[in-house]
Amino acid sequence: MDIDKIKKSFLEEIEKVKNIQGLERLRIKYLGRQKGHLTQILRSLKDRTVEERQKVGPLANALRKEIEELLDKKSTDLKAKTYNLKANLDITRPGLKPKTGHFHLLTQVERQIRQIFTSMNFSVVEGPEIEDEFHNFDALNIPKDHPARDCWNTLWLKNPKFQIPNSKLLLRTHTSPVQIRYMETHQPPFQIIVPGKVFRYEATDASHETNFYQIEGLIVAESVSLANFKFVVEEFFKKFFGKNIEFRFRPSYFPFVEPGLEVDIKLKKEWLEVIGAGMVHPKVFKAVNYNPYELTGFAFGLGLERLAMIKYNVPDIRLFHSGDLRFIKQF
Ligand code: FA5
Repeated sequence: MDIDKIKKSFLEEIEKVKNIQGLERLRIKYLGRQKGHLTQILRSLKDRTVEERQKVGPLANALRKEIEELLDKKSTDLKAKTYNLKANLDITRPGLKPKTGHFHLLTQVERQIRQIFTSMNFSVVEGPEIEDEFHNFDALNIPKDHPARDCWNTLWLKNPKFQIPNSKLLLRTHTSPVQIRYMETHQPPFQIIVPGKVFRYEATDASHETNFYQIEGLIVAESVSLANFKFVVEEFFKKFFGKNIEFRFRPSYFPFVEPGLEVDIKLKKEWLEVIGAGMVHPKVFKAVNYNPYELTGFAFGLGLERLAMIKYNVPDIRLFHSGDLRFIKQF
């Protein structure tokens, strides 16, 4: 076979190659060491005359280079095609959103609640998770040895690195101490909410955790009443749940409010307590040097997990902090 014929038949054959194996067979057929068509020509050069050698040699080498390049290109094309087939690539299909992380359900719910209250003109305030007895109890009208301290099973700090005179340190059992901290440094009128983590030394069950989140609320002004509180709660529930839901006020006792009450939400046939609340007790105003004859206020503390459980149908509070991705990914 002469050079031109080899080139022609190679070009025809490479067109028909459909896969890498076929391409390898073609390479051997033309460039194979033993019987490759072009190899044979190159090998036969030594038996030719000088003139023939000078004529055929460069042509054969140029063709070898060309064949090698064509084989390489075809190989790249075939590999890309196989990859695309494997990836089932259809460039006309809409793109896929890359998988990214997302906020935990409790973070989402806390943000929703912040947003609702700020839209009602509340400011957001925060306070320390390690508290002293004075702010967590005494100033809230729960003196030492008062039986009401038993309502909050407390985690006390052993040998803390810093001390406060005449006051032991503890992990705050509720967000109410931030009421005191805020009133100590601000003058009414104001309306605030305080989101935060709280800690209790108690057994867990489907609706009780040892670490959970509360959102405290406090309004102080010359003249506010429980009717104002009822409006705030009704508005909040309407915005949070996106519909009217059934709830009730039930008289209750907290030493720092008078009267005190709890708000329950109806779930199928049962009531679930979600908020503790009441009118700020005059002794609390006295503890922060406010004049109880001139001021009124109401305060409330709502349970974040409990509200999230109702809105998103979560059957057990312990799921929130279980770290189970099957739970977390659902929201
Ligand atoms: C209090 O902690 C009061 N500080 C609330 C308050 C604030 C009353 C201001 C008056 C004025 P209580 O212990 O009931 O109250 O908790 C308030 C809310 O936190 C409850 O209604 C409930 O929704 C949630 N909660 C209480 N204990 C747990 C718990 N162990 N696990 C999860 N949520 C809880």
